[in-house]
Amino acid sequence: MSANTTTDIHIIGQGSIGALLSVNALLQGFHVKHYIKSSALQHPPVNVRWLDEQTYGLSQGTLLSEQETLSGIVIIPVKAYQVAQVLAELSPRLACDATIVLLHNGMGSIELAQTLFPQHVIIAATTTLAGFKRDNIVTHTAWGETQAGIVSDHKTSLHKTIIDQVLPSVTWHADILPSLFTKLAVNCVINPLTALLNVPNGDLSSTHLHDDIHVIINEVIGVAQAKDVHLNVTEVIDTVFNVIDATRNNFSSMHQDIAHGRKTEIEHINGYIVNVGHEFGVDVSRNQALLENILALKKPVNFSID
Ligand code: PAF
Repeated sequence: MSANTTTDIHIIGQGSIGALLSVNALLQGFHVKHYIKSSALQHPPVNVRWLDEQTYGLSQGTLLSEQETLSGIVIIPVKAYQVAQVLAELSPRLACDATIVLLHNGMGSIELAQTLFPQHVIIAATTTLAGFKRDNIVTHTAWGETQAGIVSDHKTSLHKTIIDQVLPSVTWHADILPSLFTKLAVNCVINPLTALLNVPNGDLSSTHLHDDIHVIINEVIGVAQAKDVHLNVTEVIDTVFNVIDATRNNFSSMHQDIAHGRKTEIEHINGYIVNVGHEFGVDVSRNQALLENILALKKPVNFSID
């Protein structure tokens, strides 16, 4: 795995997506550096079981605080509630030619990144690359596709061709917001419902849930519209049901978070819809109920994904 470029790839966090991207970039010969939080130092380094069943061991990551300057491409595939902290930690150490790639569930980080990094190229992306992590093993389950768009372009550096190699099947959009709101609709439906009903994604195709799913989606579309992002209702509904079908045997990330007693991303998913809905006077009562129910949810005794 020798470097094929002088551009460094920095990957923050070693959740499933971070680990999968690290392996993919290493396999393509990039110089990759990955970063972990201090609590992860006590755990053994991550092994990645790739789709072709090969296993790759990643080296122990570095602490972000130990890196002086990061140049090249900085990909941030962390939990939505960790993004603000990561951006704050990056703020004194990002070289001016670095490109930031925001890659997480939920919304709300673009404005923060633009405020903290007014001079940098910022890319927002969403991917269906998938895997799950159990102990120190990440299992790759789908190669997926990526929708990406430049949300701040200062022409100092643009690493599009490298991003095309590191992220799976990238489609570039002049306006990425419709893709991000569509993905948000997917997460607003699948994540809380699977967690509350304690079911795999596929169970949401049951017809008795259709009306409820339509209400959740319509509220997301109303909020998008208030932000001047105009989505086609039928297309969003089709996308949500296609994802339910394509991931029918998977447990959503929120289901897994609840099952493992971890914090969820609900405040950046349905919570984002509730906040923006209230700001603009859009009815978001169903998303609000889901937010409250998830925040109140205690892990049920029989709640297991094993
Ligand atoms: O968060 C997740 O689990 C995923 O984004 C998705 C698409 C809902 C599939 O499980």
